[in-house]
Amino acid sequence: MKFEKYIDCGDFTLEKITPDKQNAQKLLDVINDNRAFLSKYLEWVDRYTTIEKTLTNIEKSYSVDICSYFIKVDGKIAGKIGFVDIDENMGEISYWLGQKYTKHGIMTRALNLMTDIGFNKIGLNRIQLTLDIDNTSSEAVAKRCGFRLDGILRKYFLLRSIPRDMKMFSKLKTDN
Ligand SMILES: CC(C)(COP(=O)(O)OP(=O)(O)OC[C@H]1O[C@@H](n2cnc3c(N)ncnc32)[C@H](O)[C@@H]1OP(=O)(O)O)[C@@H](O)C(=O)NCCC(=O)NCCS
Repeated sequence: MKFEKYIDCGDFTLEKITPDKQNAQKLLDVINDNRAFLSKYLEWVDRYTTIEKTLTNIEKSYSVDICSYFIKVDGKIAGKIGFVDIDENMGEISYWLGQKYTKHGIMTRALNLMTDIGFNKIGLNRIQLTLDIDNTSSEAVAKRCGFRLDGILRKYFLLRSIPRDMKMFSKLKTDN
């Protein structure tokens, strides 16, 4: 399936992830500026330490992530949103923002847009999000976008060797 390479959302854009050195550098810059903020719930951050590792990692994720976009503000990478797991029925979205780009409603709008793409372009019936039990900001985004709590996944994810309870949220095409 072909997805738009560039979506203009006014004060931010969504741009298809292309694994090149320039994007790897921009991504590493935003990760370096936000390492402590992002590390709290995202373990992959630890693997993005050099430009070479960053490039290799985005090459890998580029080949498996479907419909994944960098979120850009003024041409700089501000975050990412995309489907990390998908089949004919269900897709799972993950997302993050650099701290200075939070609190402007960017992720709420980006998630609404990706949800719309998932239901109306890809044809999914269900979209889900898996969040750390303490990740209240992410939970607020999910709820603002109409996702509902399915339940708690006990000791579901190892965050730096510590098993964490996660909350699963979902939205169905037939909701609302
Ligand atoms: C999760 C994360 C993306 C949430 O960011 P966020 O800024 O809270 O979410 P949004 O971009 O949707 O912004 C919402 C905030 O902007 C405010 N806002 C301003 N204008 C808004 C608008 N037009 N629409 C919605 N919200 C708006 C909201 O009130 C809210 O602020 P509040 O939490 O103080 O009430 C961010 O905290 C993050 O990346 N954290 C680290 C990585 C992470 O945890 N990723 C998720 C893993 S599951």
